[in-house]
Amino acid sequence: MQRKVIQFSTGNVGEHALRALIGRPDLELVGLHAHGADKIGRDAADLCGLSDPTGVIATDDLDALLELGADCVVYTSQAETRPKEAVNELARFLRSGVNVVGTSLVWMVAPQYADAWLRDPLEQACRSGDSTLYINGIDPGFSGDTLVHAALSLSTRASTVTVQEIFDYGSYDDAEFTGASFGFGTAPDHTPIMFAPGVLTSLWGGQVRTLADNLGIELDEVRERHEKWVTPRPIDCTMMAVDSGRVAAVRFGVEGITRGKIVITMEHINRLTDAAAPDWPYPPERRPGVHRVVVDGDPGVEINTHVGLGIDHNQGGVIATAARAVNAIDVACRAPAGILAAHDLRPADHLHGTMW
Ligand SMILES: NC(=O)c1ccc[n+]([C@@H]2O[C@H](COP(=O)([O-])OP(=O)(O)OC[C@H]3O[C@@H](n4cnc5c(N)ncnc54)[C@H](OP(=O)(O)O)[C@@H]3O)[C@@H](O)[C@H]2O)c1
Repeated sequence: MQRKVIQFSTGNVGEHALRALIGRPDLELVGLHAHGADKIGRDAADLCGLSDPTGVIATDDLDALLELGADCVVYTSQAETRPKEAVNELARFLRSGVNVVGTSLVWMVAPQYADAWLRDPLEQACRSGDSTLYINGIDPGFSGDTLVHAALSLSTRASTVTVQEIFDYGSYDDAEFTGASFGFGTAPDHTPIMFAPGVLTSLWGGQVRTLADNLGIELDEVRERHEKWVTPRPIDCTMMAVDSGRVAAVRFGVEGITRGKIVITMEHINRLTDAAAPDWPYPPERRPGVHRVVVDGDPGVEINTHVGLGIDHNQGGVIATAARAVNAIDVACRAPAGILAAHDLRPADHLHGTMW
């Protein structure tokens, strides 16, 4: 059975979600939302670099999209900068009985630890529309709720587990959101939004706590840390040009503590070009990126994931992020009403429709 799907936005992630929807025989693209004035009125194919027109035209008319009788919306609109608006948009679809999968509102990757002002209206909307919401991504998402489970399942005893994204963001064309929120290109005394107290914990702490719950351990504390690396010479890359004396790499983590010991770490090391932060860890074989889990235990386990073989790793990252949502359309359509977390899905639920 083909599921009728609406794609909501065609940004970094949405463009790839849209391409996937157009290509897959198990899914039928029936609608497309666009925010940008330059995108409204254009064919979906045109907005994701495909040549054969689909006949599906981008619109910003939410009422018209609600009338399409879709089974599911793939929501990849920028939402962290406008969360209330995004919650309202999602709730309108959910209340009208349309399921939603997405990558936005990243707090909802660990829904049981998301703030009530975010979760409650979405839960109510699912209940009143008998619909399902599932938000995921690569990190937060896959690394901290799927890869980590695979790794830990191989140890009889684990004393610590570390989940890392080590990624060169130099080729990531997203200065406006990722660049600004990480503080790339700014003076070292500037506090970017990500490093405002509590923000890292709000974004990754839910995954740390959820993992602790799944391990059956109690955490005494969840804490955050961050540091910056300032470039001694100018750096030029797709993300942005960084003057000397400005931030060109960041390292941050959220840690779960038990009996005074760090037992769970979720960490990012993000640099602009390979030249940045030479003393911080690099991916294995000096690749440009890795999503990695290291278990210190019996036996110790390390799993390294490289997305984007044969293509740019940042492009691989956004395609993989889109995949975490698109591949879950079928399960979201089948699931009972409510908000899903990754551990509510069988591992196979994330593969549905990827091969034909
Ligand atoms: N967990 C993960 O691993 C992960 C990884 C990457 C991204 N994400 C999340 O996924 C989402 C999409 O990321 P992205 O990199 O694709 O974002 P993006 O390219 O910065 O923006 C996506 C789209 O949001 C729409 N938009 C921007 N401002 C808007 C507004 N005021 N009103 C309505 N729509 C607006 C635009 O839509 P149009 O295209 O319609 O103009 C834009 O193309 C974000 O929430 C991001 O945090 C998660």
